Amino acid sequence: MKKPLFAALIATLAFATTASAAEKFPTRPITVVVPFAAGGPSDAMMRILGERMKVALGETILIENTTGAGGSIGVGRVVHSAADGYTIGFGHLGTHVANGAIYKLNYDLVADLEPIVLLPSNPMIVVSKNAVPAKSLKELIDWLKSRPQPAAAGTAGAGSASHVAGLGFEAVTGLKLQYVPYRGTGPAMNDLVAGQIDLIVDQLSNSINQVRAGTIRGYAVTDAKRAESATDIPTADEAGLPGFHMTLWSGLWVPKGTPKEIITRLNAAAVEALNDPSVRKQLENIGLQMPPQDQLSPQALGDWQKAEIAKWWPMLKAANVKVE
Ligand code: MLT
Repeated sequence: MKKPLFAALIATLAFATTASAAEKFPTRPITVVVPFAAGGPSDAMMRILGERMKVALGETILIENTTGAGGSIGVGRVVHSAADGYTIGFGHLGTHVANGAIYKLNYDLVADLEPIVLLPSNPMIVVSKNAVPAKSLKELIDWLKSRPQPAAAGTAGAGSASHVAGLGFEAVTGLKLQYVPYRGTGPAMNDLVAGQIDLIVDQLSNSINQVRAGTIRGYAVTDAKRAESATDIPTADEAGLPGFHMTLWSGLWVPKGTPKEIITRLNAAAVEALNDPSVRKQLENIGLQMPPQDQLSPQALGDWQKAEIAKWWPMLKAANVKVE
């Protein structure tokens, strides 16, 4: 058979195979890579959503915690995986914006990934170990300023949300913090409860139950309004730190080249999960806020990520963050 004809046949067959694979997707378990430790806020949100997405997709969702370097290792794992929809990446402002300004990544956060859907967001909260002799944010800042050495602040690594929020706290207070990196704020929280570290500027969803249980102290949330799930905790504006605002948004991505039909299918499953009343209740109960209904398309996440990169990179590059 003449070469051009043979090549055309092969191309048709390859297209037919990919097309039918996309139509039948999924036919085996899907892995979601969470770039932070199990038991932390990213893991908790993804496990709740994963339980409901598996119903919508008719396939098992496996959570794989691939941690390190502020989440950039887990994101790299997704970038370098097959573009077939069976490896999805969970991420947020830290992993899919900040890390691009802080690390020499061997991938491009926009060019090497396809957005699927914007996920819930939550404000950050300033929390400390119970041994800190402070009952308000003002008293906490006075205590921090009275210390001879910088206080030990837990983070999930350089570039993570808890680190970026720590940089923001330093900027608005003029304080210096000694960052203690963990593989996620789940393990950092264990050490805060145990009094091994002094504070975390954490995601509300990770701290809220510990604050409610009285095992740590919560001082203020970084939102313009109080969280419906924690109306007893003042905003930073109310607590004397005007303008200290930061909302951590999250999302799902797949490797570049993943067929559009598969992205549409994954997006639909995630939206179905986000709109499930029992899923919403679980997520809102830990202080998470649902993304607006008109912001649930893959395009919306892509546009939002680019806008956030334009906003945060100049600040983060100016902060000249050193990564070990
Ligand atoms: C986590 O799940 O541990 C967090 O998302 C970490 C962070 O970015 O602070």
